Amino acid sequence: MRDRSLIYAGLLVFLAVITLPFTYNIAAGKSTKPPELKLPENEKQCVAPVEYMKSSHMQLLLQWRENSVRNNIKTYDAFNGRTYTVGLTGTCLTRCHTSKADFCDRCHTYLGVQGPYCMDCHIDPNKAQGGRQ
Ligand code: HEC
Ligand code: HEC
Repeated sequence: MRDRSLIYAGLLVFLAVITLPFTYNIAAGKSTKPPELKLPENEKQCVAPVEYMKSSHMQLLLQWRENSVRNNIKTYDAFNGRTYTVGLTGTCLTRCHTSKADFCDRCHTYLGVQGPYCMDCHIDPNKAQGGRQ
């Protein structure tokens, strides 16, 4: 009998310890919910299907850069029949993602993606004037 209560007590301690990461987060009011991204207000569609952008926006940006800087191709014919001017600052961050902090950065920070170095040179047009980054 005494053994049995010892076993139950041990089990309880074990359960408490093993669920600690979850109970701790609940107690701390944190959750594992993904970050809320601020989506563009004035556009309904991205320059490519959202699933593609989620997985491959970096490749698309590099392709835009290659086209613009090396091949002098300054426009991009999108899947939806529209034509966009290629441009990280001029198009992405001006026409659509006017809040880099609440869109790009929020996701990158959440996922631990090393901040893309692009902003060493390119400007976030919505940052305080004169600010780089
Ligand atoms: C060392 C500075 C520097 C860095 C870092 C840099 N760029 Fe650029 N980028 C430029 C310059 C200069 C141009 C040419 C601007 C022009 O043609 O007027 C350019 C052009 C581009 C263009 C086409 C035109 C435009 O205005 O956007 C794209 C797209 C682009 N870069 C994307 C990127 C991406 C994505 C990264 C990060 C992975 C990046 N760049 C990092 C300097 C830089
Ligand atoms: C929903 C999440 C998410 C959003 C929103 C997002 N990114 Fe990313 N981004 C990622 C992930 C994940 C990677 C890393 C992919 C990898 O390492 O292969 C990445 C990588 C990049 C890279 C390549 C970095 C490098 O050093 O090679 C660039 C450039 C980039 N993102 C630009 C942007 C820009 C600009 C925006 C906003 C207009 C943006 N991203 C929004 C998830 C996101």
